[in-house]
Amino acid sequence: MNIAIGCDHGGFDLKKAIAPLVTEMGHTVVDLGCFSEESVDYPEFADRVCAAIGDGRCQRGILICGTGIGMSIAANRHRHIRAALCHESFTARMSREHNDANVLCLGGRVLGTALAQTIVKVWLTGEFTGGRHLRRIEMMR
Ligand code: RB5
Repeated sequence: MNIAIGCDHGGFDLKKAIAPLVTEMGHTVVDLGCFSEESVDYPEFADRVCAAIGDGRCQRGILICGTGIGMSIAANRHRHIRAALCHESFTARMSREHNDANVLCLGGRVLGTALAQTIVKVWLTGEFTGGRHLRRIEMMR
């Protein structure tokens, strides 16, 4: 898959730890910024990642800000996005199996690197189970 990755300054360090893992897992990373610790506005980077999914350049996205909250709010304003803010691996797995989440949001000031990498691994390998969950997703279109 092509995975769009975006962050703000609060997520910049964690993005650097996540992107190589995504590549190691056999995916193509499309890094849409930001590219330094200089203060930036998270909605801009959420919009970039959501646009890359919307126009088909990428199949999924990962967004990282300080808490993950701003990114998840911004991403979920897009009708084609189901963004899940996850701080542990159970919700990461469920966000794929039940919600078919196409964006994972992480908090760079919340998670240690090892836990964040575990969450990303679980999320990227999780499969949507469909059935009644598909019906529920279709109710939100
Ligand atoms: C930036 O200081 C911080 O507000 C942002 O990274 C994020 O946590 C917002 O939800």
